Amino acid sequence: MKAIRIHAFGGPENLQLNELEQPQPGPGEVLIRNHAAGVNPIDWKTCSGGGASSFIEALPFCPGWEFAGRVEALGDGVNNVRQGDEVMGFIRFPQPAGCYAEYLIAPADQICQRPSALDSVTAAGLGLAGLTAWQALFEAGELKGGQSVLVLAAAGGVGHLAVQLAKWKGAYVIGTASHGNKAFLQSLGCDDIIDYQRQQVDNLIHDADLIIDGVGGETAIRALSCLQPHGKMITLPSVTAAEVIAAGEAKGLKVSGIRARPDAGQLHELAMLASSGKVMLNLTDNLPLDQAAEAHRLSATGHVRGKLVLTI
Ligand SMILES: NC(=O)c1ccc[n+]([C@@H]2O[C@H](COP(=O)([O-])OP(=O)(O)OC[C@H]3O[C@@H](n4cnc5c(N)ncnc54)[C@H](OP(=O)(O)O)[C@@H]3O)[C@@H](O)[C@H]2O)c1
Repeated sequence: MKAIRIHAFGGPENLQLNELEQPQPGPGEVLIRNHAAGVNPIDWKTCSGGGASSFIEALPFCPGWEFAGRVEALGDGVNNVRQGDEVMGFIRFPQPAGCYAEYLIAPADQICQRPSALDSVTAAGLGLAGLTAWQALFEAGELKGGQSVLVLAAAGGVGHLAVQLAKWKGAYVIGTASHGNKAFLQSLGCDDIIDYQRQQVDNLIHDADLIIDGVGGETAIRALSCLQPHGKMITLPSVTAAEVIAAGEAKGLKVSGIRARPDAGQLHELAMLASSGKVMLNLTDNLPLDQAAEAHRLSATGHVRGKLVLTI
């Protein structure tokens, strides 16, 4: 089978298309014939030696934590799916999962059925960003209908799903993006849109109940003054989380980081919302597996609208 791997940490040029033996499922696992794999910033960050690279015991490393594919074979003890089922998953994170490949091994309890109304490419792009948004809004953020939420980087993979999930929950949603994404955020249902290149969000918003921060660093620290005194910020970029949390604590504000975790039940709920049109995954591009390096270059620009997916 073909798989994308790195043999040394570095830039996108280090991604190679390798020919490998097809893997075999162990107990509680399934063999997947992969149709598509989602691309996220954590993929290129990890390949360059940051991100989740501390969880890689040895190179080579095959990136990718989310997929949509068909169950080809079952390991012992698997009874929630059958051979031939079309499934989707966000798996093993932050341990290596190897989704940039024609075949992969998935823990059966981290996958769910792909609704027939949801195509594979869309399904492959939903998991990581979608469950990050879900867990940040509804678990760590405890968002309730009627509250206001500010989404920093609202046009990104996590942000555009967070906007729609918060609207679905009945919240008032403010999103930040560049001017070129204004119409996109309007189409997602954002109640208020702030062009971060022309306006300072901290001059405009002072009573947000929740901030979902997809930018981090100084931008997140400035945005702390947008919170009402008992509000919360959930900061997503792990590299600046400690400094953002410290700045929040200095102001007496609740700031925390999260690490998204696989959850098949939440993924199923998200898939049902997407298949019924209540949540839309915006695909910036889908590229063939052998163009994974180009996908990483695009992701690393920091200006992808929605998601990138590799098709296999
Ligand atoms: N902790 C976790 O478990 C976890 C999980 C997922 C993601 N993350 C992290 O969360 C961050 C967001 O992830 P993502 O997948 O949404 O990233 P992404 O898809 O790469 O985000 C791209 C978006 O960011 C926007 N953007 C860039 N600079 C901005 C700024 N200064 N203000 C507002 N928007 C800005 C861009 O909009 P414009 O083009 O309009 O500028 C673009 O649409 C990343 O750092 C990622 O690594 C963490």
